[in-house]
Amino acid sequence: MSLVVFPFKEEDLAVVGSNLANAAGHSRIEEVWAVSAGDGDTMEAVERIASEVSGAPVRVFPQERMGRFRPGKGDGLNTALRLAAEVGFDRVHIYDADITNFGPDWIDGAEETADRGYYIVRHRFPRAATDAMITWMVTRPALAISFPGTILPRLGQPLGGEMLLTGEAVRRLAADPRVVERSDWGIDTMLTYATVAMGLPFWEHHIADGKRHALYGSLDEIRVMVVECLDAVRSLRGLPAPTTTLRSDPPAPIPEDLKRTVAYDLERTTALLTTGWTAAEAELAATLPMADLVMRNRERPFYEFLDAETWGVMLGDLLDRFVLGDPVWESLAFRLWLMRVLAYTTDQARLGYDAAIAYLESTIRYYEAGADHHGSR
Ligand code: DGY
Repeated sequence: MSLVVFPFKEEDLAVVGSNLANAAGHSRIEEVWAVSAGDGDTMEAVERIASEVSGAPVRVFPQERMGRFRPGKGDGLNTALRLAAEVGFDRVHIYDADITNFGPDWIDGAEETADRGYYIVRHRFPRAATDAMITWMVTRPALAISFPGTILPRLGQPLGGEMLLTGEAVRRLAADPRVVERSDWGIDTMLTYATVAMGLPFWEHHIADGKRHALYGSLDEIRVMVVECLDAVRSLRGLPAPTTTLRSDPPAPIPEDLKRTVAYDLERTTALLTTGWTAAEAELAATLPMADLVMRNRERPFYEFLDAETWGVMLGDLLDRFVLGDPVWESLAFRLWLMRVLAYTTDQARLGYDAAIAYLESTIRYYEAGADHHGSR
């Protein structure tokens, strides 16, 4: 008996409708839940769409307040995990509601892998070379520094919300205080750590077509996600290093259109470097490694110095000192991340998809190898 869960907030209703219909129409699915981050117009519209879907019943309901961080996606997933554990579903699929190429093949791939005895199946998928910039610049490097030699830094999409969990994994997650408290964007990081740390058979299922979703204008759109994901990965430091083995589908050719996709607006994003500096932020920036270079951004955009090596030092400092909820730290950490993303975008990303992704993968190996210099973060 399998359940599909879609957490949602403000979404393109046509996309949500198609995703609900695909899930409800699948022969392995008993029930579909759409868990809303609000109880306003979007939820009513999704309820209307859900009532017209044929196949398995679709329930639409608001998320509960479960955690102690900003009420966000984490509350939605934790609401679903708790209820699913109570009902006792054998398998629970979780998918972001905004995937524009979601279809039965996602469910088939996960179910068939679970049939082979895997308790946790995470979907991995190619993304544009300038997409996934939190994954590449924060989450995977920080996991490499904190958990070198484990599967954590090697997972394709540690922030990906697409997976299948067996009932055993769902029960354990619903009872894990570190997962339940993480009500914000940090939930994906906590689920990644917790599912790997369980030590249950684990598989990465490859979606060759990639995960298609709406991309960004200015990267300001994902500012909150940047700082919450930074805090989440920071909170994992000192936890036991998992020993789970990574098993995954072999790589597949990358779709040509994905290779050409530009994920964000360079000009509008570059403008963010110089705006909104306060005296308090300048004072804090003065305590950073390479402070004089960072502070040049008060006058004009300046980011070329933030290569992988320099970023390793900067990220190490952020992992030591960043404070979520402190507006000065949040502004500075976001600005530093922008500098690193722009340094990469205007250098290696220009070399084309294959070279860019090979470079990004090499940075993760570099951070893993350098973990000894960074200390035991
Ligand atoms: C990531 O970095 O993976 C986030 O989804 C933002 O693109």
